[in-house]
Amino acid sequence: MSKGNFYVTTPIYYPSGNLHIGHTYTTVAADAIARYKRESGYDVMFLTGTDEHGQKIAQVAEKNNTTPKEYLDNIVGEIQKLWGTMEISYDYFIRTTDEDHKRRVQDIFQKLYDKGDIYKGEYEGMYCTPCESFWTETQLNEGNCPDCGRPVEKTKEEAYFFKLSKYQDRLLELFESETPFLEPQSRINEMVNNFIKPGLEDLCITRTSFDWGIPVPFDTKHVIYVWLDALSNYITALGYGEDDEKFQKYWPADVQLVGKEIVRFHTIIWPAMLMALDIPVPKKVFGHGWILLEGGKMSKSKGNVVDPVVLIDRYGVDALKYFLIREYTFGQDGLFSNEILLNRINSDLANDLGNLVSRTVAMVEKYNEGIVVKNDESTEFDADLMRVAVSVNGLLEEKMDKLDLSNALEEVWKLVRRLNKYIDETAPWVLAKEEENKDVLNKVLYNLVEGIRIVSILIKPFMHHTSRGIWEQIGIEESELTAWESTLEFGAYKSGTKVKKGKALFPRLDVKKELEELEKIREASAPKEEKKEEVKPAKPEITIDDFGKMDLKVAKIKSVEKHPKADRLLVLKLEVGNEERQVVSGIAEHYSADDLVGENVILVANLKPVKLRGVESQGMILAATSGKKLKLVSVDIESGSTVS
Ligand code: MSP
Repeated sequence: MSKGNFYVTTPIYYPSGNLHIGHTYTTVAADAIARYKRESGYDVMFLTGTDEHGQKIAQVAEKNNTTPKEYLDNIVGEIQKLWGTMEISYDYFIRTTDEDHKRRVQDIFQKLYDKGDIYKGEYEGMYCTPCESFWTETQLNEGNCPDCGRPVEKTKEEAYFFKLSKYQDRLLELFESETPFLEPQSRINEMVNNFIKPGLEDLCITRTSFDWGIPVPFDTKHVIYVWLDALSNYITALGYGEDDEKFQKYWPADVQLVGKEIVRFHTIIWPAMLMALDIPVPKKVFGHGWILLEGGKMSKSKGNVVDPVVLIDRYGVDALKYFLIREYTFGQDGLFSNEILLNRINSDLANDLGNLVSRTVAMVEKYNEGIVVKNDESTEFDADLMRVAVSVNGLLEEKMDKLDLSNALEEVWKLVRRLNKYIDETAPWVLAKEEENKDVLNKVLYNLVEGIRIVSILIKPFMHHTSRGIWEQIGIEESELTAWESTLEFGAYKSGTKVKKGKALFPRLDVKKELEELEKIREASAPKEEKKEEVKPAKPEITIDDFGKMDLKVAKIKSVEKHPKADRLLVLKLEVGNEERQVVSGIAEHYSADDLVGENVILVANLKPVKLRGVESQGMILAATSGKKLKLVSVDIESGSTVS
């Protein structure tokens, strides 16, 4: 019997190019959640799709000398193929060009208009074409789009508006309620302080300057601007307005996953639209972080996108899915590199899990002709093994419910590692030397196989091929595994089952060789005119508390000497209020002593002192660099002042 309904969504992707590993992240996470919920007895609806309207798509199609429709059919086909390769278990794929969707969006527009929540006016604002977003002057970042940093255009046109401002108080209540619908918690302040509290303006929701969109039903020279069209997909896919049964069954969504840059749309515009339609808001919107590369975000023009298909071809879909979920804390940014990927596969999959299975099966074959026998013997190590094995399901569930996906897998790996430790503790190869230990040995082997069986069931939502690979080796038919909970009881594995050694689940990778191969593949597919950009390590997101740990002070440069042993370095004597400091700085190429004395610079005053080529440096002074250029940050305020 179903435990209930569960609706999970991903954002709908822009089909403006092939998707990269960053896009697959959201979808892999949603897939794991959907599969986990299905396994644990829920009736799941998992939605994904493509966001196909707007000026940008029309422009890309034109650049490719084709019509938007032709262009889209092709690229959406590629996206669906990718999800096929990644075995994404979506239940419905929505395209915003679907007739059903278009009709239902027009119906939504009409309803809001009839209710007075949409009205006609004139819009003048700054428009960012790549992001398809209007911004107010105050939201701009040095005159550019605050999301992508590109220039915006001043645009004025007759347009329809959605009365977003009317929902300001209700939105604030929503965020301030005891169980706010946005997670992680850290994203709430940003929405409340940066967007809601400063005051919400009504939202321009139509355009007349292009026609690749859904026409306003009663005024067809206007097309519905993409966010109203796109956000509606989450309910039009359920048949909103036409299929009440399906809609009522799954709405409100249990979890809507979105990347952090589109949290604003999903937690301000989207709930306001739903409020206007008198529909409940989603139970949870989760804003996850970005997967970054050294040098920042992935982008086609930088030629640094990571193609998931290349990785799947070499390492398999399970390894990639495992990596994406386990490596990155869901909700935070994280760094991707091939090396990080390969090391993770080797340590967790080849060593921890793969070796556990192959060693165990080999021992059962060697010591008991492949038959696993249960008996009443025990060892002093069983109790602790059992403690971990019986608690893992509950801990996994707890983490999954919190969408703490990485730690959910970590809970399972605690059992994997505990099992490996159990092998070391019980040393079956020693037990095998004495015939009188035969029964104890058999029990040890039983416990190992039983632990592996539990692991194999728990990892199925994340890596089902691996589960099946294990079942083949430990002699389990999938049809035996019907009820999730009862199959997870320790001891459910049938005594007398025969195991059969199979091929390694995850062969150990030669990291150096793989890195070279991946680099060759990347070079072969990189755009030829690619400009090598300076590679700087991406910095992780920090909190205000992290920033607050730095003690930044204004310091006056009193004297400067050359470093006795290094031409690149200068030794500066600084005055910081009443205190004196000595700092060694690598700026000799850029400044001479005369340029510096008397300057007020910024000192990181609580940096742990270090010796640089034998001379102590008590802090660091701040400089800005661009390529080979370097300028110290100097300020016009007395030394000793605090910088914050
Ligand atoms: N079409 C809109 C969403 C409309 S939803 C009603 C859109 N599309 S997108 O293709 O640009 O992005 C889709 C998702 O991919 C976003 O959640 C975004 O955060 C995610 N990612 C794209 N690059 C990413 C990384 N490098 N890392 C993690 N997620 C990233 O926005």
